[in-house]
Amino acid sequence: MEKGNIFDLGKLKGNQTVLRQIQSSVTKGNFEPGSSFIEENSIGLNLTHIVSPVGEKTFISKDELNELSPRVIDKFRLMRQTEGDCYDGDTSMLGWQSFPEEINREYLDDITSAAKELANKIDAYVSLGIGGSYLGIEATFKALTHTYFNQLPREKRGGMPQIYFLGQNTDPDFFRDTLDMLDGKRIGINVISKSGTTAETAIAFRIIRNILESAGSRDSREFIFATTDAVKGALRKLSEQKGFRAFVVPDNIGGRFSVLSDVGLVGLAMAGIDIYEFVAGFRHMKKRVEAEDYWTNPSMLHAAVRHLAYEKGKKIEVVATNSAAIYQLTRWMEQLFPESEGHNGYGMWVSPSLYSEKLHANGQMVQQGERNIIETFLKLENSDNMLEIPADPDNLDRLNYLSDNKRDMNFINSKVIEGPAYAHFMGGVPNMTISIPRRNAFNIGQFYYMMELSVALSGYLAGHNPFIQPGVEAYKKAMFAMLGKPGTEDDKKAMSDAGNRLNRFVI
Ligand code: PA5
Repeated sequence: MEKGNIFDLGKLKGNQTVLRQIQSSVTKGNFEPGSSFIEENSIGLNLTHIVSPVGEKTFISKDELNELSPRVIDKFRLMRQTEGDCYDGDTSMLGWQSFPEEINREYLDDITSAAKELANKIDAYVSLGIGGSYLGIEATFKALTHTYFNQLPREKRGGMPQIYFLGQNTDPDFFRDTLDMLDGKRIGINVISKSGTTAETAIAFRIIRNILESAGSRDSREFIFATTDAVKGALRKLSEQKGFRAFVVPDNIGGRFSVLSDVGLVGLAMAGIDIYEFVAGFRHMKKRVEAEDYWTNPSMLHAAVRHLAYEKGKKIEVVATNSAAIYQLTRWMEQLFPESEGHNGYGMWVSPSLYSEKLHANGQMVQQGERNIIETFLKLENSDNMLEIPADPDNLDRLNYLSDNKRDMNFINSKVIEGPAYAHFMGGVPNMTISIPRRNAFNIGQFYYMMELSVALSGYLAGHNPFIQPGVEAYKKAMFAMLGKPGTEDDKKAMSDAGNRLNRFVI
């Protein structure tokens, strides 16, 4: 066959072309990585561009941070004692704080073997869920696997099935396109819903279960996991009746804090991600923040800086990363923070961004628009691939200064954060950088715990309960009334009365 235009990666030296193998350096039993691993994999927080002056003006001084410290420590202690505004009904929603240490090896072994057993029988795994029952799973999956995981041959996926997500929207075209990808494959499903009544997830489950059951050749029970409340809710009832393998969303852990629980762990194990190392990351950060030393505590400082920034008029937080894989973590933050902070007229809007892409879009606004923005960078320090810039004798693109100085793409990609960090700071956008040394489960686990504690402190500092989301009910009420759900007749009437008072203006 003529070679022609075939793209042959054979000549690309020193770069990875297969699924990144995640090698645990954590002994499965005690979750303790060695000291050199910890040294190389410790999340950093750089506040230089918050506390330094631009001209005469410092955005937040160390004195201001110091002044806030007794309040932050006080809120931290309250949470540790399971006190404060943390109840959803009768249940205190602080279970995520201690959960990393309640997990033992047997628990993870059990999840791993359930995942392996299902994985061996299927070609594709479909995770159904929305909000906290979806975002953390997809974010971790994307952060830790190959960008084109599903297109890789199975052996390059570590022998694991393809992974799909449904139930996060009600778009029939997206749904059908995903079904097309599943056509002819042996599929497994995990339907994840704490309440068991979330419409988007339940609708997706009904459609997909119907297809699975009507294929008729196998006992669908073997291929369905249900992850829900341990005792109550429609999904619990359904899974008991149908005999699905059930996993539990702990009662005292809210959706967006639940990635470390059956909610996240089952799906991550299905993708071949090292869940032991993931837990070790949570534990490591937990120990680090428990030290209670405000000036070295990343969660306390992160919460304090954001709190002061908000009080000084910063209403938007651009959360930007230089890693397409880590970008999904910014989407996880887009839920965690606004759903927890956006109460009683309070709260900072989180805008997820991938740089450089967004620098050529809303980057103009960050540099020169209204000065109501702060920026948080999730900087991936070391990519798995370096990708050297080749020398070119003609140098028409004038890039030989890069190849001459051996600047690879990993180096360039770090400047995609450091450049904007400087320029935006000088332009009046204070910013901080959270350094993620590399893409591994330990680092992602650390990051999650750091952020969960930060947002919880933020809610306590603002004076509201960060573990509930009463505002989300309003859209559900309206949507159910419009869909004609039995029992919503009064809402429908109220909506139609309100509708009659509207000044319709449609062109
Ligand atoms: O953080 C939360 O609590 C929410 O985002 C929920 O996770 C989301 O609404 C899905 O709820 P459920 O798991 O009950 O279907």
